[in-house]
Amino acid sequence: MAARSVLVLHGPNLNLLGLREPEHYGNLTLDAINNALNSLAQQATISLETFQSNSEAEIVAKIQSLAVKTVDFVIINPAAFTHTSIAIRDALSAIKTPFIEVHLSNVFARESFRHHSYFSDIAVGVISGLGADSYVAALNYAINQFNKQPA
Ligand code: DQA
Repeated sequence: MAARSVLVLHGPNLNLLGLREPEHYGNLTLDAINNALNSLAQQATISLETFQSNSEAEIVAKIQSLAVKTVDFVIINPAAFTHTSIAIRDALSAIKTPFIEVHLSNVFARESFRHHSYFSDIAVGVISGLGADSYVAALNYAINQFNKQPA
């Protein structure tokens, strides 16, 4: 049986985690978050890839690549593109892979321009405000789904 696979996409400025506004985003670096997700994936014997880009075009291209190299689930923190990117939304709609939208901070407790997302209505769910645990909760959900629906 082929291992189930998850792609975690991190949008712009998330490469600066650890340095960037820790009052909103915590102290963990992106590598630390990715390492925690990789350990969880290993325990669950699923395959996990992580990808960060500051470029909308690169994120669209990465999502489009899933047409050829498919994955079972996507976890995406679109970061600032959450509030701006119809292009990334359209790529996810085209690919049809189920995805969860995650945010480290609680976007609803912040500026009003962060309250609108181009992704939430087409996501399986949205997890916002749990810090790095937003990603962990999303990955646990995907693993639970895989266990409920054996390949
Ligand atoms: C974010 C929230 C966005 O509003 C912001 O632009 C980010 C990070 C979060 O994880 O809390 O870059 O997606």
